[in-house]
Amino acid sequence: MTIFEAYNSAKKQLESAGIEDYVFEAKQIIKHITGFTSAQVLSFYNRELTEFQLNNLTAILHQRQIRYPLQYIFGEWDFYRRSFYVGPGVLVPRADTETVVDVCAEYLKDRPSAEILDLCAGSGCIGITLAVEFADSDVSMVEKYDEAIRYAVKNIERNGAGNAEIYKGDIFERYLADRKFDLIVSNPPYVTENEMNTVSPETRFEPETALEAGDGGMEFYKAITENYKNSIKDGGMLCFEAGVNQSKIICGILADAGFHDIKVKKDLCGIERAVSGIK
Ligand SMILES: C[S@@+](CC[C@H](N)C(=O)[O-])C[C@H]1O[C@@H](n2cnc3c(N)ncnc32)[C@H](O)[C@@H]1O
Repeated sequence: MTIFEAYNSAKKQLESAGIEDYVFEAKQIIKHITGFTSAQVLSFYNRELTEFQLNNLTAILHQRQIRYPLQYIFGEWDFYRRSFYVGPGVLVPRADTETVVDVCAEYLKDRPSAEILDLCAGSGCIGITLAVEFADSDVSMVEKYDEAIRYAVKNIERNGAGNAEIYKGDIFERYLADRKFDLIVSNPPYVTENEMNTVSPETRFEPETALEAGDGGMEFYKAITENYKNSIKDGGMLCFEAGVNQSKIICGILADAGFHDIKVKKDLCGIERAVSGIK
């Protein structure tokens, strides 16, 4: 089977499995099994796949039939122009979250040697990105679950983020709240119990503990604001990722806690995704 035939066959199988982005995925899978760049795939479209590559393709397509996440199959995924290890037990970094990083980066650009805290760090994609983008900053990341921490440790190493550290801790127990930071950022669990029934088949393979939050999805926003507002220096920033239709309530939580200059930034899909306030 040639690369071109494999690409067409993958597209068909992915489409019939109900995968919306089947064209994008087919391309990614062909690049993954051949090790080629997009340009090489185009140049060598007539080349025969080896038996190993063909077996790999078949295995990947079987996993996608049951909607096992492509990111877990590859074992890595790109976020903010860098690669992060991912797999079972950790949330896959989402493109939406890049909006949160943009807001933090804008804030940090005039603040040298910033002390940053990333709460609910998961793979470490937010904290590690900020650590690499702002090499003179000092980044602490807090995550409750060992499975996720294992990925964050590997991702620190992979991205050469020597100024970032991951700690095992619980935000409800105010872990690291006795320190003062210039920026606290968090993409916490925010999916309500009802919404959990409507998540994509792929998301069902991701840890529930990374997704679900009580109190109509507000549990973590309230706890982090309450537990960590005194851990932010005067003039420092608290920045959250928000779920769909949650930004207004989060703005209210920040306002009630005394934050000012509260701002909302939309993601590329037009969803109000990042909510920030200044102490
Ligand atoms: C929505 S995920 C975000 C992960 C990562 N920051 C990202 O943007 O991809 C939320 C993370 O919070 C962690 N978590 C859940 N409960 C926690 C708690 N009580 N304290 C600290 N982390 C917690 C989950 O394990 C998960 O990794």
